[in-house]
Amino acid sequence: MSQPDYVFTSAEDQLELTRLQAIEREFDPASRRRIFATGLTAGWRCLEVGPGAGSLMRWMGERVGPSGRVVALDLSTKFLTTQCPAHVEIQQGDIRTVSLPQDSFDLVHARYVLIHLPDYEIALSRMLAVLKPGGWIVLEEPDFSASRGIAGTAAQLAAMQHINQAIHRMYESRGMDYALGLKLLPLLQERGLCDLSMENDAPVSVGGSGLAKMMAMSARQLREKYLATGVVSDADLQRYGECAEDPQSRAVYYATVAVAGRKPVE
Ligand SMILES: C[S@@+](CC[C@H](N)C(=O)[O-])C[C@H]1O[C@@H](n2cnc3c(N)ncnc32)[C@H](O)[C@@H]1O
Repeated sequence: MSQPDYVFTSAEDQLELTRLQAIEREFDPASRRRIFATGLTAGWRCLEVGPGAGSLMRWMGERVGPSGRVVALDLSTKFLTTQCPAHVEIQQGDIRTVSLPQDSFDLVHARYVLIHLPDYEIALSRMLAVLKPGGWIVLEEPDFSASRGIAGTAAQLAAMQHINQAIHRMYESRGMDYALGLKLLPLLQERGLCDLSMENDAPVSVGGSGLAKMMAMSARQLREKYLATGVVSDADLQRYGECAEDPQSRAVYYATVAVAGRKPVE
């Protein structure tokens, strides 16, 4: 799959940066906790796949220090312009085709990346190949099948349902799995990973919260793609935006499924 297939490729840069930074504000605390639980420490070599706006890549760089290394690999590095220390290396490339040394990383992490790949199994194979025996992989992906409106006007709840259907259809039409998060644990079990753990985080978001606003930003950027599914109207998109701002509304926008596991030492 080429870069144009990534659904946010054509998003306007400033809006996309704002959206990526909203994701970081919302989800970095849990991601840092999960990554830290692997034992991340000075001297580790880490691969951050799809760093987006780069907050976790920079944090990992601080944790591993100059005796360690962080490689941050993204299809597009346009949001990674902040000066980084020499041991944090930004690479433009595709995880499915990039050439990285086998068995060379203590930690591989990706958040909200595999869901965008119809051939996510190839990406996963590459991630596991570059992991050292005994090294950790931490994956965090959405499960949009968990989405549901809980409180709001009848029109807002109907709009929420229609947008959720559109998200399903958009991913499906591109050969992608909108509930990929649920597959992570079985995928790592099949591949013989050990010390596996899993979390399923499905927060109820109030209108006006960071996650509700981030989802409204996504809907604005993916407007044409959602409309093309034929299951939403402009009025739905309008109400979805209102719902995201309405302090009376409550919704589960999606679940984040996180798994961590170690590559066995043969
Ligand atoms: C939704 S953003 C998530 C960004 C970041 N991981 C976060 O959670 O804040 C997905 C990121 O993955 C990158 N990406 C998508 N497909 C990729 C691929 N095949 N190889 C490397 N990066 C990829 C995109 O360019 C984008 O930066």
